[in-house]
Amino acid sequence: MTDEFQSRFPVGTTLSFARYMDIALYDESVGFYATVGRAGRRGDFLTSPEVGPLFGALIARRLDEEWLALGSPETFVVVEFGAGPGTLARSIAFATPECGSALRYLMVERSAEQRALHAEHLDGWMGDLDAAGVDSFVGGHNPGPQFASSPIAPYGITGVVLANELLDNLAFDIVRHDGAGNFERLDVHHAEDGLEFVVAPTEVPLSLAPVLSSAAAGEWMPLQELAVQWLTAAIDRLERGVVIVIDYGATTAEIAARSEMGWLRTFVGQERAGHPLDAPGGCDITADVAVDQLGTAVRPTIITSQQQFLERLGIAQLVEEGRKIWTGKASAPDVAALRARSRIGEAEALLESGGLGDFVVLEWTIGMTEAPEGSPENLR
Ligand SMILES: C[S@@+](CC[C@H](N)C(=O)[O-])C[C@H]1O[C@@H](n2cnc3c(N)ncnc32)[C@H](O)[C@@H]1O
Repeated sequence: MTDEFQSRFPVGTTLSFARYMDIALYDESVGFYATVGRAGRRGDFLTSPEVGPLFGALIARRLDEEWLALGSPETFVVVEFGAGPGTLARSIAFATPECGSALRYLMVERSAEQRALHAEHLDGWMGDLDAAGVDSFVGGHNPGPQFASSPIAPYGITGVVLANELLDNLAFDIVRHDGAGNFERLDVHHAEDGLEFVVAPTEVPLSLAPVLSSAAAGEWMPLQELAVQWLTAAIDRLERGVVIVIDYGATTAEIAARSEMGWLRTFVGQERAGHPLDAPGGCDITADVAVDQLGTAVRPTIITSQQQFLERLGIAQLVEEGRKIWTGKASAPDVAALRARSRIGEAEALLESGGLGDFVVLEWTIGMTEAPEGSPENLR
């Protein structure tokens, strides 16, 4: 543990796991995301946008669907939360969506280090904005596509709020119940010889108690209050449109049933890292998103797997198109042909069962729009 981390968490003190995780991931001087951590092939973990441009091309189709469903508004705002290094925005720009002329795409990212990467290779870049800048960006009438980043998100928007692999990274507590309505929490104590978990009695929010109680007594599980608060705020931001959350997720009972808290994971340099108290600030800390905890705020309009979501948006057609381009140019391939060929491998990774294909896609349709035609039925 670094001296700087010790100064934030002195010997003899105790923090909730959520507070500990927030410092370990996001503190401006010692947090993993504020210093070294990031998504990507050369980063610490591979997310769908980082697999290649195919994912962004399909998200661009979903944005077009929503833009059309909203009546093709002149200004169409997309707020991507937890944008990391900005790879998804670049792929969406590259896909030249139909909604482009109306598009105001704001990457809301907590880490200034990551926001500093957003301008790279992005035409229509409008800067890293403060609150006033965000208001004029989303209210502007100049033709898009326009891109910007900020730590602050706007309200009153017509468009899409999007979060890929954000919610699994929002700080959570760790709780269990005894089957008789009593809860305990795992806190983090800074003892003389290092950090250790300690158990303390706790209260849980009344709204979440039934879902938490659906897990087997005695099993530790994540209590994701911040994720629920994020969702409530995301829905409030939209006048009309859709909130789309993509992440690894399961019900609270399913998560709690994983042996030895297998749902609590750490990553660094593409590898699973050690115990979450071993190297604070030196690794990512994450958990499966409890979809039923989110559902206590507002029930999703649709839940699908990432595989179903991408298949509905035409991943097979894009791969086939790529295959034809590659075959036509295989004897003298150019960059476009190589990119077309790479769709085959990208699709395999994005649809893989037991991997990204099993991620959940949750959508909350707000205001006047309807769920897009052909959407599968709610699965849960
Ligand atoms: C796992 S990374 C995902 C990056 C990207 N969405 C992707 O799929 O490659 C999560 C990102 O969310 C950011 N983040 C965490 N909490 C946030 C918050 N409250 N608002 C905005 N960004 C946040 C982190 O700094 C990190 O860059």
